[in-house]
Amino acid sequence: MIQANDLRKKYLDFFKAKGHTVIQSASLIPDNDPTVLFTTAGMHPLVPYLLGAKHPAGTRLTDVQKCVRTGDIDEVGDASHLTFFEMLGNWSLGDYFKREAISWSWEFLTKELGISPDRLAVSVFEGDENAPKDTESADIWAECGMDRSRIFFLPKKHNWWGPAGLTGPCGPDTEMFIDNGKPACSPECSPACNCGKYLEIWNDVFMQYNKTEAGTFEPLSQKNVDTGMGLERTICILQGKSSVYDTDVFAPAISLIETLSGKKYGESDDVTRAMRVVADHTRTATFIMGDDLGVTPSNVDQGYVLRRLIRRAVRFSRTLELPEGSLEKIAKVYIDQYKDVYKELERNADKILKEFNLEVTRFEKTLAQGIKEFDKVAFYLEKSGNTSISGKLAFKLYDTFGFPIEMTVELASEKGMSVDIEGFNKAFEEHQLKSQAGAEKKFKCGLADDSEETVKLHTATHLLHAALRKVLGTEVAQKGSNITPERLRFDFSFERAMTADEIKQVEDLVNEYIKAGVEITCEEMSVEDAKSAGAIGLFMDKYGEVVKVYTMGEYSKEICGGPHASNTADLVSFKILKEQSSSSGVRRIKAVIGQ
Ligand code: ALA
Repeated sequence: MIQANDLRKKYLDFFKAKGHTVIQSASLIPDNDPTVLFTTAGMHPLVPYLLGAKHPAGTRLTDVQKCVRTGDIDEVGDASHLTFFEMLGNWSLGDYFKREAISWSWEFLTKELGISPDRLAVSVFEGDENAPKDTESADIWAECGMDRSRIFFLPKKHNWWGPAGLTGPCGPDTEMFIDNGKPACSPECSPACNCGKYLEIWNDVFMQYNKTEAGTFEPLSQKNVDTGMGLERTICILQGKSSVYDTDVFAPAISLIETLSGKKYGESDDVTRAMRVVADHTRTATFIMGDDLGVTPSNVDQGYVLRRLIRRAVRFSRTLELPEGSLEKIAKVYIDQYKDVYKELERNADKILKEFNLEVTRFEKTLAQGIKEFDKVAFYLEKSGNTSISGKLAFKLYDTFGFPIEMTVELASEKGMSVDIEGFNKAFEEHQLKSQAGAEKKFKCGLADDSEETVKLHTATHLLHAALRKVLGTEVAQKGSNITPERLRFDFSFERAMTADEIKQVEDLVNEYIKAGVEITCEEMSVEDAKSAGAIGLFMDKYGEVVKVYTMGEYSKEICGGPHASNTADLVSFKILKEQSSSSGVRRIKAVIGQ
């Protein structure tokens, strides 16, 4: 039976043989996109190239991308939902289009995976005011050997993909399904219905439009192909399992959870659900903390999602009566399972285990008390016929016992109760105002754009990085970057707060670099050459790949996708607004230019 590792390898080998360069998965933390917290699809890190920038590895790419989607976190525990998954994909950046994409999909499914054509079905776009009916794709499928009765024309709701955020590349798609042989649920039965007959395994998107802020669809300068195959889901279907958790992907973790808990997966619905939640959330948290741009648990942004995942895993560990230290043991299983594909997990293993330990300990201290408090109040509320938990109690559970609000909502809903979220938000805001702890005011996330201001701020980020390394030492490394047209935000590894003097030195240095007015140049070279030229950047695991290196005089040399200003003088001036803690061992600087 095909295993997850086989599918990953088969896919990448297949597309390599078709002229694609295999690239490494990008970070789970989007490098410069303030509109989303995590990478959610294989195309996400490739957006600039789909829009026309030149990718150093060429016009045909393939990879397996780490993805996190936490929108459905509360659904985890059923048969199919996951918060982390791997997406296999192949891309044409203005190279091949429908004919090649479809015939290779057909070849891979029927020849490489050996799926019989009568078990396959596809959908294509039926057309609307934005794009015509995709008879071209339907004809190509038919030429490949797909029976016309298995080609379904469906509307935009089903056969249009993207953009990933609010704007950006998108287009009609053609989706591929396994027909599991169940009888049709009605004469209209198609891949659009949820009866369970058709299981989606792959999506070929023909990205030829750019959705603008005004909501219009403009043709892109190049026609691209973006495809995505969810590894876990496809393996589940190919192995004929009814749940992703029953595949080899989760077998080692579930088996350890069984041993540690003395319970059997499947012995009751509650046990099955709890084991799935623990297995899923521990895997996702391991990948988030194990990323080279990885975050640690906190109360903001990605750190908050991570905290929710770990705390939810702890809560379900209690249902299973898992002994202390279990999540770390499960994390170790995942590190071992994935370390050959994602080498960063091994590199960051100590950090992953340490942070699991810290966060679990922090939370366990108060969890039991918090649940007791919740049960007590819920009991009296129930008795008096009240079904709403007040915002004040929800805030107390958050503030005193560390319960993410979503967890309180979930505990309440298990008892058929609701939570006064508005009241919670109000209590939260009052507290923030009082304690001034809410100084980390969220920026209105402008859309990721490539306006002149954003590009200049991006250049300022490189100069800042260089100046920090000069003043604080070379242990400073970039941990994250977020740029809006108004300001830059730069996270970097450093153990303590900077002194006022250090901040001034860094600011002065960047201004010196700006005044020097040096040309900014970009060269493409192999990672090895970039390294020997003294460029900084995340090169780990990228051997053999061609990268872009941006040089700013003697001051800065960094691997980066760009774009950048053409001369440092374009930035006019640089000012640090704030230096603060981001998470343990990570500092955050906010700065502006041209003031
Ligand atoms: N970007 C497409 C998807 O995520 C392939 O389905």
